[in-house]
Amino acid sequence: MIIQTKNNRSVLLRKLIPDDFDKLTEYLEHLSPETKSRFGPHPFDKDSIVGFYENSDKNIGYVVQESETKEIIAYSIIRLGYLEHDAPRLQSNGLTPDHKTDCTFAPSVADEWQSMGIGNHLFQFILSELKANGIGRIILWGGVQCSNEKAVNFYKKNGFKTLGQYEYHGWNFDMVLEIG
Ligand SMILES: CC(C)(COP(=O)(O)OP(=O)(O)OC[C@H]1O[C@@H](n2cnc3c(N)ncnc32)[C@H](O)[C@@H]1OP(=O)(O)O)[C@@H](O)C(=O)NCCC(=O)NCCS
Repeated sequence: MIIQTKNNRSVLLRKLIPDDFDKLTEYLEHLSPETKSRFGPHPFDKDSIVGFYENSDKNIGYVVQESETKEIIAYSIIRLGYLEHDAPRLQSNGLTPDHKTDCTFAPSVADEWQSMGIGNHLFQFILSELKANGIGRIILWGGVQCSNEKAVNFYKKNGFKTLGQYEYHGWNFDMVLEIG
């Protein structure tokens, strides 16, 4: 799917494929230290990326590619099901996780492309696929740092509700979106 960003650039939204792994490694390496500190579902070297996708068919990547340069400018992950190590914490906040109907979400946008509508567009693109595949709820991957105002606003804007908060390297919100 092709969309226009707020700065009138044409970009392509699609699923990640193995041919993207080199470009994705470059994308991740070039994120700023701040963005790297906010987004980290897997290590950023190519071997780790290959392992992440080859060792689990539950991990689905999505990318946004600039139409002219073909550069990757955003990357999000959906894990089908929930993260086992997050389950006790989610349960203590009243949520009963379900591997069949839950998924786990981690988004990122390149620093120079943030706040241009790309995160919202990519999320809506992913959401329509999840709905078509019977997913009923989206859980944040490890929550979101309370200090990450941009991301907290982004999740609220897209209808996520706060389930609770927990302390790990500072305070984090667990947030979920019911889509069923
Ligand atoms: C969080 C993130 C994915 C949002 O994507 P984005 O493309 O920057 O966001 P968008 O331009 O689509 O804006 C979506 C919403 O986010 C919020 N937002 C975006 N930029 C913002 C800013 N500078 N300040 C405050 N809120 C902001 C707004 O609510 C906005 O909705 P609106 O434009 O309708 O008001 C992106 O900024 C990012 O990758 N940040 C660093 C990594 C990260 O924090 N990942 C999440 C880890 S939990």
